[in-house]
Amino acid sequence: MYIMDGKAISKIVKDEVKQEIKELGIKLKLLVIIVGNDPASMIYVSSKEKACKQCLTEAETIRLDGNSSQKDVVDAIEKANNDKSVTGILVQLPLPDHIDTEYVINKIDPNKDVDGLTNINQGKLVNGMKSIVPCTPKGIMRLFKEYAVDLNGKNAVVIGRSVLVGKPIALLMLQANATVTIAHSRTKNLAEVCKDKDIIVSAVGKAKIVTGDMVKDGAVVIDVGINRVHGTIVGDVDYYEVSEKAARLTPVPGGVGPMTIACLMENVLECYKLQRGIK
Ligand code: GUN
Repeated sequence: MYIMDGKAISKIVKDEVKQEIKELGIKLKLLVIIVGNDPASMIYVSSKEKACKQCLTEAETIRLDGNSSQKDVVDAIEKANNDKSVTGILVQLPLPDHIDTEYVINKIDPNKDVDGLTNINQGKLVNGMKSIVPCTPKGIMRLFKEYAVDLNGKNAVVIGRSVLVGKPIALLMLQANATVTIAHSRTKNLAEVCKDKDIIVSAVGKAKIVTGDMVKDGAVVIDVGINRVHGTIVGDVDYYEVSEKAARLTPVPGGVGPMTIACLMENVLECYKLQRGIK
């Protein structure tokens, strides 16, 4: 088994972004809005700020109190939509329960939607049009490219149907001519569904949901999970069992996570170009 080294590839992606920013002589700014103080979200936000620094991109974080109203969040978004110095806007998820996530996200200008979560960008993705693609699926597709994983005619399964990962990665693999099954919490006999697949993408958030017996010899396994177990971070995949079967596997940490953040930087640059009609 060979690991797919997301940490190494993410450096390449970030260097490309940095290089292009230098060549174009431009200034980018990412605005992150975080509501409340969910510890995991705060860690993600600080990694995003760090990546901005590495990629010559200004980062500003608006920290709203957990009791803030939906209008407070929308007001912050609308102000950023109208601010020419802001290239990209990211609302860190999850939002507190009293806020309608879909409503709030769709207030983001689609040309500043670095997460690719607005209905406009999601709709374009469904239709196979050029769009801002959510960062995690974009990062997974880049890993496939870097490790020469050809999806054409392959049988793939995505476990998880979230808007952020499951649905968009299924669509992207479909566009690359894979035959894609989407499995989820109501899927009967998940092991049976997985065990003949060439590619397994697990985005569930449940440790050891993918075990060795579910994986075909030589399969490519992408682990999107981030789970805290006894104080350490593990993925969805039983790493030791699956590493005996898979040809390629993404580690956690150091696999999909760093690729997500690197692709966020790519998306900020892409938003800049979209706003100015640069190809
Ligand atoms: N929460 C966990 N992952 C993400 C992400 O990629 N984007 C946003 N906005 N929130 C998240």
